[in-house]
Amino acid sequence: MTSPVRRPLIAGNWKMHLTLAQSVELAKAVRESTKDSPAEVAVCVPFTALTVVAEVLKGSHVRLGGQDLYWEPQGAFTGEVSAAQLADAGATHVIIGHSERRRLFGDTDEWVNKKLKAALAAKLVPIVCVGETLDERQSNKTFRVLETQLAGGLKGFAPADVSAVVVAYEPVWAIGTGVTATPAQAQEAHSFLRQQAGKLYGEGFAAGLRILYGGSVTPETVDNLMAQPDLDGALVGGASLKAAAFMRIARFQVAAKA
Ligand code: PGA
Repeated sequence: MTSPVRRPLIAGNWKMHLTLAQSVELAKAVRESTKDSPAEVAVCVPFTALTVVAEVLKGSHVRLGGQDLYWEPQGAFTGEVSAAQLADAGATHVIIGHSERRRLFGDTDEWVNKKLKAALAAKLVPIVCVGETLDERQSNKTFRVLETQLAGGLKGFAPADVSAVVVAYEPVWAIGTGVTATPAQAQEAHSFLRQQAGKLYGEGFAAGLRILYGGSVTPETVDNLMAQPDLDGALVGGASLKAAAFMRIARFQVAAKA
């Protein structure tokens, strides 16, 4: 039974897309079209779009997120953005450890851990991404990878400090490929992650932890995914760039959770 404390979160990840004018247009469409969504709705936008999108979303139900951050509070770190700068620009959420960061830019579990610490200190809601590659899945290493990434990322906090954390299960083979994990594959991974979360910070933390699924979520796949008991939302890439598709995802329909 899904705990009523786990309010679903549907977060768009715009990645490195859109001009400022397009960002404003999409943010307005999201703001208007998701008003009656029972889920918490967020859009994670490029750094350069944060302030203009914040202006559009001001006073609305839609939350704003960054896609990464650097853990130092300030200093000579050319090209980086701190947690406090994100918050100052209007962000309430931030994605950490996305597989594209891990694969293309070298983010490690240790970095994820430092970024998480900085995000929590700035009172941002962190969305910590974990997930296995196709190779790892095919060689039966999925659980080992998830366990390592979760434990490494969430290491060393006091239980009270991690209550805002959101985890996103994003199998790398499903991201941007059009191959969505089946509801059963996603549920298996989510239930495993919840169990691991319990080992790290206790049953109460695990029961309240929101675990999102990400990887080719579409209007066609969202309902069956969200029907799974341990799926508490979605991190949506490609489909979040189309207002109509994102609206349908944010208004997912689930008869009753298993
Ligand atoms: P996708 O991306 O929905 O385009 O597969 C998801 C993500 O990378 O967060």
